[in-house]
Amino acid sequence: MDKKIRRIGVLTSGGDSPGMNAAVRAVTRTALHYGMECIGIRRGWQGLINGDFMILNSSAVRHILALGGTILYTARSEEFMTEKGREKAVSTCKMLGLDGIVAIGGDGTFRGALELSRLGIPVMGIPATIDNDIGCSNYTIGFDSACNTAIECIDKLRDTMQSHERCSVVEVMGRHAGFLALYVGIAVGATCVLVPEHEMDFQKDIVERIQNARLGGATHFMVVVAEGVGSAIDIGKRIHEELGLDPRVTVLGHIQRGGAPTGRDRETATRMGYFAVKAFAEGRTGSVICTQEGSIVETPIEEALAKTKHLQMYRYEILEAVSASAR
Ligand code: F6P
Repeated sequence: MDKKIRRIGVLTSGGDSPGMNAAVRAVTRTALHYGMECIGIRRGWQGLINGDFMILNSSAVRHILALGGTILYTARSEEFMTEKGREKAVSTCKMLGLDGIVAIGGDGTFRGALELSRLGIPVMGIPATIDNDIGCSNYTIGFDSACNTAIECIDKLRDTMQSHERCSVVEVMGRHAGFLALYVGIAVGATCVLVPEHEMDFQKDIVERIQNARLGGATHFMVVVAEGVGSAIDIGKRIHEELGLDPRVTVLGHIQRGGAPTGRDRETATRMGYFAVKAFAEGRTGSVICTQEGSIVETPIEEALAKTKHLQMYRYEILEAVSASAR
């Protein structure tokens, strides 16, 4: 990159996640630290098309570190998927004098970032999604907060399930990825965990596990289902038909995306925001800021998008070994 970066834009795009604000704050403050100006682009890539912006200075990002959601709003833009849309976005960058963009979000956000960088706009990406499904990074901002929210809710459910000796079917988020479900399932001591990466065998994955848990002395059962597996209501009905239980179904839904970010998410978001802007300041661009083995690394956007993260199946074995069904 030859041109010195003097003014950058920062945006949040796709599904929000706790910690996005912490990243926006870190990007803004680090930009100021390096003598750059920072402009907030509202409503993600669509905002870049529409020229929807706000000036970010040090006081604009005061008190947002612990705030859930995103002060920049977020959106999923169909228009940005078109050549025309992206041309408009480039015009906005020119109009606002933006020398670079920091894009905070998931893989959809990075696909947009790649297209924009191909049009000559320097872009850095920061992974933020509660799904933790970005291949190049061990960790994505928001995962820890979402897990803790789900765990808190399920602990409460367990109290009443235990009193009534019932079966609970809880649906957590994750349309394509089961990281949240498996992590939460282990943390709450679930009887069964269903994830989209593993094709469900109802008899083996549910019926036999509940029967074994019962034979092992359990009187209530917790089934955690990732959204992508199918309807938790249907699973509840099948449990009723095949085991004669009367399950209660809870869909946690978007509550998992809200709330104050945990310490881990604030710290990671701050570190990632800092390194994204530092890269610009040192003349590097076109990468996603990732964590690998606890360290920060820059992965070229194209490479980052090509990487897939596999659910660690050994975690299933852990669940198997320590759940109530292990007699
Ligand atoms: O990508 C994060 C995520 O929360 C997924 O887990 C979920 O499937 C999806 O977003 C829900 O998206 P929306 O906000 O459009 O309902």
